[in-house]
Amino acid sequence: MIFDILTLFPGMFAAPLRESILGKAVERGLIQTRVHNIRDFAHDKHQVTDDRPFGGGDGMVMKPEPIVEALEFLGNIGPPPRIILLSPQGRLFNQRIARSLTQASRLILICGRYEGVDERVAEYFTDDQISIGDYVLTGGELAAMILVDAVSRLIPGVLGNCASTEEESFTKPLLEYPQYTRPQEFRGHRVPDILLSGHHEAINRWRRGQALLRTRQRRPDLFAQLHATPEDIDLLREIDGRPTEQP
Ligand code: ADE
Repeated sequence: MIFDILTLFPGMFAAPLRESILGKAVERGLIQTRVHNIRDFAHDKHQVTDDRPFGGGDGMVMKPEPIVEALEFLGNIGPPPRIILLSPQGRLFNQRIARSLTQASRLILICGRYEGVDERVAEYFTDDQISIGDYVLTGGELAAMILVDAVSRLIPGVLGNCASTEEESFTKPLLEYPQYTRPQEFRGHRVPDILLSGHHEAINRWRRGQALLRTRQRRPDLFAQLHATPEDIDLLREIDGRPTEQP
């Protein structure tokens, strides 16, 4: 998978793409990341990339020409891309979208800055607009990194253990159960006894119960999508006497 990233701040990507699992994936050629400075595609003397909004108002808007020239340049090198603008106006990113993006062989990610990007870029030159959450960042760079991270770890070989992406939260609409490691007691807080029992079936049942419980408590929206089995309903009733109702 190739990620071409268009940004005014290429330096922001250095460490995240070098460290840890992403860094290894780059090293091993499982993903390729290329960071391009939008300013290099501005041809006037001062390499201007933004301008005042038509109609007035605060802030500056990113001009369409440098971005579209960068897209045209990139269009000529490599496999056909899917072009995504990171923007708080986009559709909300989630695990399902991350998984669907793994089908592309190349993603071009456009990081907006200032008050936004000229709407014609979004409308006529991109395939998709994605927001990573209902809050406004100073720019699309951190959002792009999150997208690269979430998509990359789903690419076979990046995590090593193929089963682990199937098991986790959001593949099913359920949060993960709590995990513990040594020591058995830490500052007076003990690991739940059941996890030390060696009874795998009982442990799995406890974990399922905890996952159901925390999903119901913390993410009623996910819990509402869950098709709870009769065993799930029994489990919740055992834990706190409330099988399926919303908090
Ligand atoms: N740029 C600024 N805020 C953003 C967000 N929430 N998602 C994606 N891009 C952004």
